[in-house]
Amino acid sequence: MAERTDQPLVLGFETSCDETGIGLVRGHTLLSDALATSMAEHERFGGVVPEIASRAHLEAMVPTVHRALADAGVALPDVDAVAVTSGPGLTGALLVGVAAAKAYALALGVPLYGVNHLAAHVAVDELEHGRLAEPSIAMLVSGGHSSILLVPDLSQDVVELGRTVDDAAGEAFDKVARVLDLPFPGGPPIDRAAQEGTASIAFPRGLTGPRDPAYDFSFSGLKTAVARWVEAQQRDGVHVSVPDVAASFQEAVVDVLTAKAVRACRDHGVDHLVIGGGVAANSRLRAVAQERCDAAGIVLRVPSRRLCTDNGAMVAALGSRLVMAGVAPSEPDLGADSSLPIDVVSR
Ligand SMILES: Nc1ncnc2c1ncn2[C@@H]1O[C@H](COP(=O)(O)OP(=O)(O)OP(=O)(O)O)[C@@H](O)[C@H]1O
Ligand SMILES: [Mg+2]
Repeated sequence: MAERTDQPLVLGFETSCDETGIGLVRGHTLLSDALATSMAEHERFGGVVPEIASRAHLEAMVPTVHRALADAGVALPDVDAVAVTSGPGLTGALLVGVAAAKAYALALGVPLYGVNHLAAHVAVDELEHGRLAEPSIAMLVSGGHSSILLVPDLSQDVVELGRTVDDAAGEAFDKVARVLDLPFPGGPPIDRAAQEGTASIAFPRGLTGPRDPAYDFSFSGLKTAVARWVEAQQRDGVHVSVPDVAASFQEAVVDVLTAKAVRACRDHGVDHLVIGGGVAANSRLRAVAQERCDAAGIVLRVPSRRLCTDNGAMVAALGSRLVMAGVAPSEPDLGADSSLPIDVVSR
């Protein structure tokens, strides 16, 4: 691989779920990050409806590309490469982004990079904190995934150490929010409610026994425990303090996530931890991770909240890194892979 030293201008497309994200990045510098979301159209269903998301991507695509270009103050012919999330995600939604990215790459005569959405959640941190230390441990906590990764080289070598065996961390936030009659997605309202409460209820910490796998997660038992606890209180006519339940649930999630991430660093002799994905926006997770990393002598990196949830800049960030590392671009028949494994950074 021939490394490049110039700073490529990369246009990134993100359509794996309900956000149409178009980002422009030059080298590790964020130029623009335009976002359109169909979140409101899914809210009454309590989850993302794939057909609605795909249609919304189609409608938002061209205006969002134009907005990203205008915000960055660049023109299409300036673009050196196009990057797109080719998986994992909702197939129909991914296909809209892949088709659009291919069309732009072909029309501009520039290389196309199909990238892994999960690696992009990690790569986005480079826009704010510079090149990732390698190896790093990365914890990816989002609506669909929760994994601990060993990252010797984010351009081509990502090793999954552990993952959730059932619900993702973000999914647990979303499901517990429903139990508490809070809006979807549940992470932000639980985060806010928890700030008014105390973590006084002892909810279970899944897979933390001495014989449990060190880096795997389980959040489904916690979600059920919260639902049962709330039902029992209501049955007994006892007032349920939403802030206290939110704080206690959140504490259980954060405790497990941070303990396992720090342990992965220690076990692998790695002193850099990066946290990415929508749940990394959680204020308690950020605070506890900082405390525990400080105590363990680990350098913690977390992107700013805005860049934790899905966006196009993260895809452009990973694309830019691949261009600079001299990684071969994708073939023109690039497709969407809804279950693209985490160790496939680009394809
Ligand atoms: N402040 C917060 N606290 C906790 N969770 C949060 C917060 N903000 C967002 N989330 C959660 O993050 C998730 C969305 O993150 P993200 O956009 O990365 O997920 P996704 O793209 O749907 O999933 P994936 O990246 O696995 O495909 C939702 O489950 C949401 O509840
Ligand atoms: Mg995501």
